[in-house]
Amino acid sequence: MPPRIQWTTRKDRISVADVAALFRNADWARERTRSEIRRMLKHTDILVMARSGRKPVGFARVITDKTFRAFVEDVIVAPEMRRQGLGRLMIEQAEMLVKKLGIPRMELTSTQTHFWKRLGYRRKTNSTCMVKYLIPVISPPPLRGRTKVGGSRRPPNLLSNR
Ligand SMILES: CC(C)(COP(=O)(O)OP(=O)(O)OC[C@H]1O[C@@H](n2cnc3c(N)ncnc32)[C@H](O)[C@@H]1OP(=O)(O)O)[C@@H](O)C(=O)NCCC(=O)NCCS
Repeated sequence: MPPRIQWTTRKDRISVADVAALFRNADWARERTRSEIRRMLKHTDILVMARSGRKPVGFARVITDKTFRAFVEDVIVAPEMRRQGLGRLMIEQAEMLVKKLGIPRMELTSTQTHFWKRLGYRRKTNSTCMVKYLIPVISPPPLRGRTKVGGSRRPPNLLSNR
């Protein structure tokens, strides 16, 4: 484990501010508001938070029916702490808690397949992740490296993973 890391999986020890700070490092979570994060934490089944001193350095969460299925979401390690084993340790911690419930497997969607493969995860051969947006995302993500021309607005990004 990287030095001086403290762990908690207790909801009452995980603050909205700490999660928001880590979310700023992730494209899909950067724009989430404090009130959205508060509601999300309240309704998430398993949370893992790592801190170095007072600084939040890692977060992961699992949504589960506590019977058949467990889905991993929002796995984020602070940029300066990456490639030191912290992501692996957070997922092992989450796996242990899921296993304790008697749930046989964890599932996820991710672009970081190298990371997940190193942890023993495999691509499912018989299914594809599918999505239907029921409510359009109102605020588009910030324009990166592009200048607005003539005040034209970028259309809402309906495919954002917000
Ligand atoms: C993906 C992420 C969580 C990995 O966390 P991390 O702490 O850097 O990962 P670890 O150091 O525990 O690495 C675990 C294994 O994955 C490998 N790995 C991690 N990131 C990798 C990458 N980008 N490319 C290839 N291998 C990678 C490591 O080499 C290590 O393998 P080993 O144990 O066999 O040596 C981190 O890079 C991150 O927060 N990224 C931004 C958010 C994100 O994309 N999250 C994806 C969540 S679905």
